[in-house]
Amino acid sequence: MLEEVVDGLAHSQKYLPTKYLYDEKGSQLFDEICELSEYYPTRTEISIMQDNISEICDYIGYNSQLVEFGSGSSLKTRILLEEMPDITYVPVEISAKYLDNSVKELRKQFPDLDIKPVRADYTKPFDLPAVQHKHARRVIYFPGSTIGNFSPEIARQFLHLMADEAGANGGLLIGVDLKKDPKVLLNAYNDDEGVTAEFNKNILSHINRELGADFQPDCFRHEVCYNERQGRVEIYLRCIKDHQVTVGEHKFNFKEGECIHTENSHKYTLDSFAELASERWAPRKIWTDDKEWFSIQYLELKQ
Ligand code: AVJ
Repeated sequence: MLEEVVDGLAHSQKYLPTKYLYDEKGSQLFDEICELSEYYPTRTEISIMQDNISEICDYIGYNSQLVEFGSGSSLKTRILLEEMPDITYVPVEISAKYLDNSVKELRKQFPDLDIKPVRADYTKPFDLPAVQHKHARRVIYFPGSTIGNFSPEIARQFLHLMADEAGANGGLLIGVDLKKDPKVLLNAYNDDEGVTAEFNKNILSHINRELGADFQPDCFRHEVCYNERQGRVEIYLRCIKDHQVTVGEHKFNFKEGECIHTENSHKYTLDSFAELASERWAPRKIWTDDKEWFSIQYLELKQ
């Protein structure tokens, strides 16, 4: 972590790795973001699922192995599991604590469900349990448009990794946020209550705690813009006065007005996502909401 943070801050455009937004406090704040009226993705994805649940389950297959990448608290997955008692559910999570807690809760709620948790960093190759039945397929589940945090190039590589993990006959059920009026986007990432601002600044408190750094979160302001050319929301911390920050043995000067880039959230069109996935995946079915703000897509491995 020290190396990654120091690397990012030594760059001419200072940046911090997005994953460090998510310590315990950050995950809690993200859950709060999901409840905000401005933050349309979560509720839109959930309502698309509810409106199309039986069709989605038909595509997954009732004796499949459902592998969720970054399962967290498996909130959306419960909607699927309610309908699919005979499935094998494989939550993949890097945090042992989150994994243990959510598996405990799931076992309470679904005592007969076959759950095979895997602790792994899903951005790198890892081993999955074998599928139960000879003809059962493995379906990777990646909701929430988390894919949007990756640059298109990294997303493309990641779609390859998911294809390798899925194996022959495999499927992918993925949430993909879509391009829309930038005003809607900017509101979603800059809410009136300031929850997203707190979420963004929390990355600094996380680094202070973990690395003994001395960031003062109050020296930064949450800032969001929409980069039309790259089709992404960009999230920054803008420094509001000249000061110096110490991280381990390194000192970094901050000028008033300069920014730390903390996150990108890429938005796709149905075509641009199909093209991104097209080396390995063929779209089979796409579900969206009335406004076409969000999509849930089922893709199958190309032969
Ligand atoms: C978890 C990556 C899907 O980009 O919408 C929400 C993260 N950041 N508000 C998103 C996030 C600020 C979120 N993802």
